[in-house]
Amino acid sequence: MDLQALIDRIRGRISAEEDRGDVATYIPGLARIDPARFGLAITLADGTQVASGDADTPFSIQSISKVFALTLALGKVGDQLWQRVGREPSGSAFNSIVQLEAEKGIPRNPFINAGAIVVADVNLGNHQPREAIGEMLRFVRFLADDDSIFIDEDIAKGEQDTGFRNMALANYMRAFGNLRHAVDLVLGVYFHQCALALSATQLAQAGRFLMLDGRLPEQGRVISPARARRINALMLTCGHYDASGDFAFRIGIPGKSGVGGGILAVVPGRASIAVWSPGLNENGNSKLGTLALQMLAEETGWSIFRAAST
Ligand code: DON
Repeated sequence: MDLQALIDRIRGRISAEEDRGDVATYIPGLARIDPARFGLAITLADGTQVASGDADTPFSIQSISKVFALTLALGKVGDQLWQRVGREPSGSAFNSIVQLEAEKGIPRNPFINAGAIVVADVNLGNHQPREAIGEMLRFVRFLADDDSIFIDEDIAKGEQDTGFRNMALANYMRAFGNLRHAVDLVLGVYFHQCALALSATQLAQAGRFLMLDGRLPEQGRVISPARARRINALMLTCGHYDASGDFAFRIGIPGKSGVGGGILAVVPGRASIAVWSPGLNENGNSKLGTLALQMLAEETGWSIFRAAST
Protein backbone atom coordinates (compact mmCIF):
# COMPACT_ATOMS: atom_id res chain seq x y z
CA MET A 1 0.00 0.00 0.00
CA ASP A 2 1.30 3.45 -0.91
CA LEU A 3 0.47 5.24 2.33
CA GLN A 4 1.82 8.60 1.16
CA ALA A 5 -0.42 8.56 -1.92
CA LEU A 6 -3.37 7.53 0.25
CA ILE A 7 -3.00 10.36 2.76
CA ASP A 8 -2.42 12.89 -0.03
CA ARG A 9 -5.68 11.68 -1.56
CA ILE A 10 -7.45 12.04 1.79
CA ARG A 11 -6.07 15.58 2.13
CA GLY A 12 -7.45 16.41 -1.34
CA ARG A 13 -10.89 15.07 -0.42
CA ILE A 14 -10.92 16.98 2.86
CA SER A 15 -9.86 20.28 1.28
CA ALA A 16 -12.84 20.04 -1.08
CA GLU A 17 -15.31 19.80 1.84
CA GLU A 18 -17.30 22.99 2.29
CA ASP A 19 -18.86 22.31 5.67
CA ARG A 20 -15.78 22.36 7.86
CA GLY A 21 -17.47 22.64 11.28
CA ASP A 22 -16.96 25.56 13.66
CA VAL A 23 -13.73 26.50 15.39
CA ALA A 24 -13.94 26.75 19.18
CA THR A 25 -14.57 30.34 20.24
CA TYR A 26 -14.63 30.09 24.04
CA ILE A 27 -10.83 30.14 24.13
CA PRO A 28 -9.87 33.40 22.37
CA GLY A 29 -6.69 32.09 20.73
CA LEU A 30 -8.57 29.21 19.09
CA ALA A 31 -11.22 31.49 17.55
CA ARG A 32 -8.59 32.99 15.23
CA ILE A 33 -7.50 29.72 13.59
CA ASP A 34 -8.28 29.27 9.89
CA PRO A 35 -10.70 26.30 9.46
CA ALA A 36 -9.10 25.53 6.09
CA ARG A 37 -5.96 24.21 7.79
CA PHE A 38 -5.45 20.45 7.62
CA GLY A 39 -2.58 18.24 8.68
CA LEU A 40 -2.22 14.47 8.85
CA ALA A 41 0.80 12.53 10.07
CA ILE A 42 1.42 8.85 10.73
CA THR A 43 4.28 7.07 12.46
CA LEU A 44 4.34 3.34 11.75
CA ALA A 45 5.56 0.69 14.16
CA ASP A 46 8.86 0.39 12.28
CA GLY A 47 9.47 4.14 12.68
CA THR A 48 8.49 5.16 9.14
CA GLN A 49 6.83 8.60 9.08
CA VAL A 50 4.46 9.96 6.47
CA ALA A 51 2.71 13.32 6.50
CA SER A 52 0.46 15.50 4.37
CA GLY A 53 -0.83 19.07 4.42
CA ASP A 54 -0.03 21.37 7.36
CA ALA A 55 1.55 18.53 9.30
CA ASP A 56 4.42 20.69 10.57
CA THR A 57 2.30 23.56 11.91
CA PRO A 58 1.94 23.46 15.71
CA PHE A 59 -1.65 23.59 16.98
CA SER A 60 -3.18 23.61 20.45
CA ILE A 61 -3.62 19.98 21.47
CA GLN A 62 -6.09 20.86 24.27
CA SER A 63 -7.81 17.70 25.56
CA ILE A 64 -5.39 15.38 23.79
CA SER A 65 -3.00 16.41 26.59
CA LYS A 66 -5.27 14.46 28.96
CA VAL A 67 -3.71 11.24 27.61
CA PHE A 68 -0.20 12.34 28.55
CA ALA A 69 -1.38 13.77 31.88
CA LEU A 70 -3.11 10.49 32.74
CA THR A 71 0.04 8.55 31.88
CA LEU A 72 2.06 10.77 34.23
CA ALA A 73 -0.50 10.55 37.05
CA LEU A 74 -0.67 6.75 36.84
CA GLY A 75 3.12 6.75 37.11
CA LYS A 76 2.85 8.73 40.33
CA VAL A 77 -0.04 7.08 42.17
CA GLY A 78 -0.77 3.93 40.17
CA ASP A 79 -4.18 2.32 40.56
CA GLN A 80 -5.01 4.54 43.54
CA LEU A 81 -6.05 7.07 40.93
CA TRP A 82 -9.21 5.02 40.35
CA GLN A 83 -10.47 5.89 43.82
CA ARG A 84 -10.82 9.48 42.64
CA VAL A 85 -11.73 9.09 38.95
CA GLY A 86 -13.96 6.53 37.25
CA ARG A 87 -13.45 4.53 34.07
CA GLU A 88 -16.88 4.74 32.49
CA PRO A 89 -17.99 6.76 29.49
CA SER A 90 -20.04 9.72 30.64
CA GLY A 91 -22.47 10.05 27.75
CA SER A 92 -22.34 13.77 28.52
CA ALA A 93 -20.50 16.75 27.07
CA PHE A 94 -16.80 17.16 27.88
CA ASN A 95 -17.45 20.11 30.22
CA SER A 96 -20.64 18.82 31.85
CA ILE A 97 -21.25 19.15 35.57
CA VAL A 98 -24.50 17.15 35.80
CA GLN A 99 -23.15 13.80 37.02
CA LEU A 100 -20.85 15.26 39.64
CA GLU A 101 -23.54 15.92 42.22
CA ALA A 102 -25.10 12.44 42.16
CA GLU A 103 -21.65 10.82 42.00
CA LYS A 104 -20.23 12.82 44.90
CA GLY A 105 -17.52 14.70 43.08
CA ILE A 106 -15.98 11.59 41.43
CA PRO A 107 -15.78 12.25 37.68
CA ARG A 108 -16.79 9.45 35.34
CA ASN A 109 -13.42 9.20 33.57
CA PRO A 110 -10.06 10.98 33.20
CA PHE A 111 -10.87 12.44 29.76
CA ILE A 112 -13.87 14.61 30.58
CA ASN A 113 -12.79 17.98 31.98
CA ALA A 114 -13.72 17.13 35.58
CA GLY A 115 -11.62 13.94 35.44
CA ALA A 116 -8.68 15.72 33.87
CA ILE A 117 -8.79 18.36 36.60
CA VAL A 118 -8.46 15.61 39.24
CA VAL A 119 -5.55 14.20 37.23
CA ALA A 120 -3.96 17.68 37.21
CA ASP A 121 -4.37 17.78 41.00
CA VAL A 122 -2.45 14.49 41.22
CA ASN A 123 0.25 15.78 38.90
CA LEU A 124 0.61 18.95 40.95
CA GLY A 125 1.62 16.71 43.86
CA ASN A 126 3.72 18.69 46.31
CA HIS A 127 5.06 21.01 43.66
CA GLN A 128 4.50 24.54 42.51
CA PRO A 129 2.36 24.73 39.33
CA ARG A 130 5.46 25.90 37.42
CA GLU A 131 7.28 22.68 38.28
CA ALA A 132 4.34 20.44 37.42
CA ILE A 133 3.88 22.23 34.09
CA GLY A 134 7.61 21.86 33.40
CA GLU A 135 7.40 18.15 34.14
CA MET A 136 4.51 17.76 31.70
CA LEU A 137 6.37 19.64 28.96
CA ARG A 138 9.50 17.54 29.51
CA PHE A 139 7.46 14.35 29.39
CA VAL A 140 5.82 15.20 26.07
CA ARG A 141 9.18 16.32 24.62
CA PHE A 142 10.67 13.01 25.76
CA LEU A 143 7.83 10.96 24.23
CA ALA A 144 8.06 12.79 20.91
CA ASP A 145 11.87 12.97 21.13
CA ASP A 146 11.59 16.66 20.22
CA ASP A 147 12.73 19.53 22.43
CA SER A 148 11.16 22.19 20.23
CA ILE A 149 7.66 21.38 21.59
CA PHE A 150 6.33 24.33 23.60
CA ILE A 151 3.39 25.62 25.62
CA ASP A 152 1.48 28.52 24.04
CA GLU A 153 1.21 31.00 26.90
CA ASP A 154 -1.39 33.12 25.06
CA ILE A 155 -3.73 30.16 24.81
CA ALA A 156 -3.20 29.25 28.47
CA LYS A 157 -3.81 32.84 29.56
CA GLY A 158 -6.89 33.16 27.33
CA GLU A 159 -8.41 30.08 28.88
CA GLN A 160 -7.52 31.23 32.38
CA ASP A 161 -9.52 34.42 31.69
CA THR A 162 -12.58 32.61 30.33
CA GLY A 163 -12.53 29.20 32.05
CA PHE A 164 -15.58 29.72 34.24
CA ARG A 165 -16.99 26.26 33.67
CA ASN A 166 -13.73 24.59 34.63
CA MET A 167 -13.58 26.79 37.73
CA ALA A 168 -17.08 25.63 38.60
CA LEU A 169 -16.14 21.97 38.09
CA ALA A 170 -13.00 22.36 40.18
CA ASN A 171 -14.74 24.19 43.01
CA TYR A 172 -17.51 21.62 43.02
CA MET A 173 -15.06 18.73 43.31
CA ARG A 174 -13.09 20.56 45.97
CA ALA A 175 -16.32 20.83 47.98
CA PHE A 176 -16.53 17.02 47.85
CA GLY A 177 -12.90 16.72 48.97
CA ASN A 178 -11.74 15.34 45.61
CA LEU A 179 -9.20 18.12 44.97
CA ARG A 180 -6.25 18.41 47.35
CA HIS A 181 -4.90 21.74 46.15
CA ALA A 182 -6.28 25.25 45.66
CA VAL A 183 -8.47 25.48 42.60
CA ASP A 184 -6.43 28.20 40.88
CA LEU A 185 -3.21 26.19 41.24
CA VAL A 186 -4.77 23.02 39.81
CA LEU A 187 -6.34 24.93 36.94
CA GLY A 188 -3.00 26.62 36.25
CA VAL A 189 -1.57 23.15 35.60
CA TYR A 190 -4.60 22.06 33.59
CA PHE A 191 -4.81 25.15 31.34
CA HIS A 192 -1.08 24.97 30.58
CA GLN A 193 -1.14 21.28 29.67
CA CYS A 194 -4.09 22.01 27.34
CA ALA A 195 -2.01 24.79 25.74
CA LEU A 196 0.74 22.41 24.65
CA ALA A 197 1.42 23.15 20.97
CA LEU A 198 2.42 20.23 18.75
CA SER A 199 2.34 19.68 15.03
CA ALA A 200 0.62 16.57 13.69
CA THR A 201 4.06 15.08 13.03
CA GLN A 202 5.15 15.71 16.62
CA LEU A 203 1.85 14.40 18.01
CA ALA A 204 2.06 11.16 16.04
CA GLN A 205 5.56 10.72 17.46
CA ALA A 206 4.35 11.46 21.01
CA GLY A 207 1.70 8.74 20.66
CA ARG A 208 4.15 6.01 19.62
CA PHE A 209 4.46 4.52 23.11
CA LEU A 210 0.77 3.65 23.02
CA MET A 211 1.11 1.74 19.75
CA LEU A 212 4.24 -0.07 20.95
CA ASP A 213 2.96 -1.64 24.18
CA GLY A 214 4.44 1.15 26.28
CA ARG A 215 7.99 0.95 24.98
CA LEU A 216 9.93 3.31 22.73
CA PRO A 217 12.65 1.95 20.44
CA GLU A 218 15.40 4.36 21.56
CA GLN A 219 14.30 5.60 24.98
CA GLY A 220 13.14 2.22 26.31
CA ARG A 221 10.15 1.42 28.47
CA VAL A 222 7.78 4.27 29.30
CA ILE A 223 4.94 2.27 30.89
CA SER A 224 4.02 -1.40 31.21
CA PRO A 225 2.20 -3.16 28.36
CA ALA A 226 -0.85 -3.59 30.62
CA ARG A 227 -1.01 0.14 31.31
CA ALA A 228 -0.67 0.99 27.62
CA ARG A 229 -3.57 -1.34 26.85
CA ARG A 230 -5.69 0.29 29.50
CA ILE A 231 -4.99 3.83 28.34
CA ASN A 232 -5.92 2.72 24.82
CA ALA A 233 -9.13 1.19 26.21
CA LEU A 234 -10.04 4.48 27.89
CA MET A 235 -9.32 6.37 24.67
CA LEU A 236 -11.71 4.09 22.82
CA THR A 237 -14.50 4.25 25.40
CA CYS A 238 -14.15 7.86 26.58
CA GLY A 239 -11.79 9.71 24.21
CA HIS A 240 -14.56 11.45 22.26
CA TYR A 241 -16.96 12.11 25.15
CA ASP A 242 -20.60 11.53 24.18
CA ALA A 243 -19.46 10.69 20.64
CA SER A 244 -17.09 7.90 21.73
CA GLY A 245 -19.49 5.19 20.58
CA ASP A 246 -19.86 6.81 17.19
CA PHE A 247 -16.07 7.17 16.85
CA ALA A 248 -15.59 3.48 17.70
CA PHE A 249 -18.32 2.56 15.22
CA ARG A 250 -16.96 4.67 12.37
CA ILE A 251 -13.22 4.32 12.94
CA GLY A 252 -12.72 1.38 15.26
CA ILE A 253 -9.48 2.49 16.87
CA PRO A 254 -8.71 4.32 20.15
CA GLY A 255 -8.65 8.08 19.71
CA LYS A 256 -8.49 11.26 21.75
CA SER A 257 -9.77 14.58 20.50
CA GLY A 258 -9.16 18.19 21.49
CA VAL A 259 -11.07 21.43 20.86
CA GLY A 260 -8.07 22.70 18.92
CA GLY A 261 -9.27 20.29 16.21
CA GLY A 262 -6.64 17.62 16.73
CA ILE A 263 -7.15 13.87 17.17
CA LEU A 264 -4.54 11.32 18.22
CA ALA A 265 -5.47 7.80 17.14
CA VAL A 266 -3.57 4.64 17.99
CA VAL A 267 -3.59 1.36 16.10
CA PRO A 268 -1.78 -1.01 18.50
CA GLY A 269 1.23 -2.61 16.88
CA ARG A 270 0.74 -0.65 13.68
CA ALA A 271 0.42 3.10 13.68
CA SER A 272 0.22 6.31 15.67
CA ILE A 273 -1.86 8.84 13.75
CA ALA A 274 -2.39 12.55 14.31
CA VAL A 275 -4.84 14.66 12.37
CA TRP A 276 -5.65 18.36 12.62
CA SER A 277 -8.67 20.14 11.19
CA PRO A 278 -9.79 23.03 13.43
CA GLY A 279 -13.55 23.00 12.74
CA LEU A 280 -15.55 21.03 15.32
CA ASN A 281 -18.79 19.07 15.23
CA GLU A 282 -21.58 19.44 17.77
CA ASN A 283 -19.71 17.23 20.27
CA GLY A 284 -16.62 19.45 20.22
CA ASN A 285 -14.56 16.95 18.21
CA SER A 286 -12.85 17.70 14.88
CA LYS A 287 -15.45 17.27 12.17
CA LEU A 288 -13.18 16.66 9.20
CA GLY A 289 -10.42 15.12 11.30
CA THR A 290 -12.90 12.38 12.16
CA LEU A 291 -13.84 12.01 8.49
CA ALA A 292 -10.17 11.79 7.48
CA LEU A 293 -9.60 9.05 10.06
CA GLN A 294 -12.65 7.18 8.81
CA MET A 295 -11.30 7.26 5.25
CA LEU A 296 -7.88 6.15 6.46
CA ALA A 297 -9.32 3.27 8.51
CA GLU A 298 -11.50 2.12 5.63
CA GLU A 299 -8.67 2.20 3.09
CA THR A 300 -6.01 0.60 5.29
CA GLY A 301 -8.32 -1.82 7.12
CA TRP A 302 -6.82 -0.62 10.41
CA SER A 303 -9.21 -1.51 13.24
CA ILE A 304 -8.93 -3.11 16.64
CA PHE A 305 -12.04 -5.13 15.77
CA ARG A 306 -10.45 -7.00 12.92
CA ALA A 307 -8.57 -10.31 12.93
CA ALA A 308 -4.92 -9.47 13.56
CA SER A 309 -3.56 -11.53 10.69
CA THR A 310 -5.51 -9.72 7.97
O1 DON B 1 -11.04 22.61 29.37
C1 DON B 1 -11.33 22.97 28.25
O2 DON B 1 -12.45 23.35 27.95
C2 DON B 1 -10.24 22.91 27.18
N1 DON B 1 -8.98 23.32 27.70
C3 DON B 1 -10.09 21.53 26.63
C4 DON B 1 -11.39 20.94 26.15
C5 DON B 1 -11.25 20.01 25.01
O3 DON B 1 -10.27 19.99 24.31
C6 DON B 1 -12.43 19.18 24.72
N2 DON B 1 -12.19 18.32 23.59
N3 DON B 1 -12.65 18.15 22.56
